[in-house]
Amino acid sequence: MTIPAISIQALCKNYGPVQALKNINLKIAQGEFFGLLGPNGAGKSTLINTLAGLTRPTSGTLEVMSHNVISDYLAARAHLGVVPQEIVFDPFFSVREALVFQSGYYGLTTNDSWIDELLITLKLTEKANANMRALSGGMKRRVLIAQALVHKPPVVVLDEPTAGVDVELRKSLWRFVNALHNDGHTIVLTTHYLEEAEALCDRIAIIDHGELIALESKRELMRRGLGQKLKVSSNSPLPDVPANLQSKIVNLSSHQLELRLHREHDSVMNILDQLKAAGFQIDDLGVETDSLEDIFVQLTSEQAN
Ligand SMILES: Nc1ncnc2c1ncn2[C@@H]1O[C@H](COP(=O)(O)OP(=O)(O)O)[C@@H](O)[C@H]1O
Ligand SMILES: [Mg+2]
Repeated sequence: MTIPAISIQALCKNYGPVQALKNINLKIAQGEFFGLLGPNGAGKSTLINTLAGLTRPTSGTLEVMSHNVISDYLAARAHLGVVPQEIVFDPFFSVREALVFQSGYYGLTTNDSWIDELLITLKLTEKANANMRALSGGMKRRVLIAQALVHKPPVVVLDEPTAGVDVELRKSLWRFVNALHNDGHTIVLTTHYLEEAEALCDRIAIIDHGELIALESKRELMRRGLGQKLKVSSNSPLPDVPANLQSKIVNLSSHQLELRLHREHDSVMNILDQLKAAGFQIDDLGVETDSLEDIFVQLTSEQAN
């Protein structure tokens, strides 16, 4: 049996009275693309930071490639690359210096060819000698990614790498992370964008108030009734909604109709055709995919029942 990339058992972390993590149990296999989702304050960064050995757990065990994060710190750290959520950098270093310095942490004194490759892949070559201070936020984010990869770790963890970055950089980060995954790296991505987890991850955990409230494949999660909302409005009063669509109504007023659709079973085009056939004059329409918040509402209300 192969060892898991990450193994977390009975992990608890308290900050004073705040229980940031409550009995987390989680195994991530080698080669997985794993998504850790949750709203702000859920405990995602705390989990990542305990894994990276930056935060001490209150209790529980964490292992990276079977190396205990506390008792076997150096080995665990050597197998793990972490891209932190917060952009932290030494303002006196150039990009290349930052990467050389980071290599030194891992005892790598001749790492130039890999650093060059990272600079090229992350489109940082032109900025190699620029001071970190002079970089845009997006560029700094790419340097953080390069720093996390200087020692070629098999397990790469990215903590909200796309929060606040523009669409273009987000897409290029997705491509880059996908390429890492295709190269055999285990990837763990935390995000609060459902879209991102959907596009990239094979398996998803949802964490809320420090607790794992879901842990399943993307497909399974999608089957939990994840869906879309279709809004149509008309300049003229709406006719009756066809009988077979009645159960899908979320909101109905004289000029506006909002339907809740099931992502797998309902086709937007098909529903629009049915509405037109029933005499709807549609002047405006919008489709809104369920947000992570919608799923939380669904999942937490399921829990409460
Ligand atoms: N250093 C800290 N000291 C005290 N409380 C903290 C600290 N870091 C995080 N917390 C608290 O722990 C909880 C989880 O935070 P965090 O792990 O940052 O969530 P996320 O990354 O999911 O947004 C929050 O209630 C947060 O306020
Ligand atoms: Mg966070």
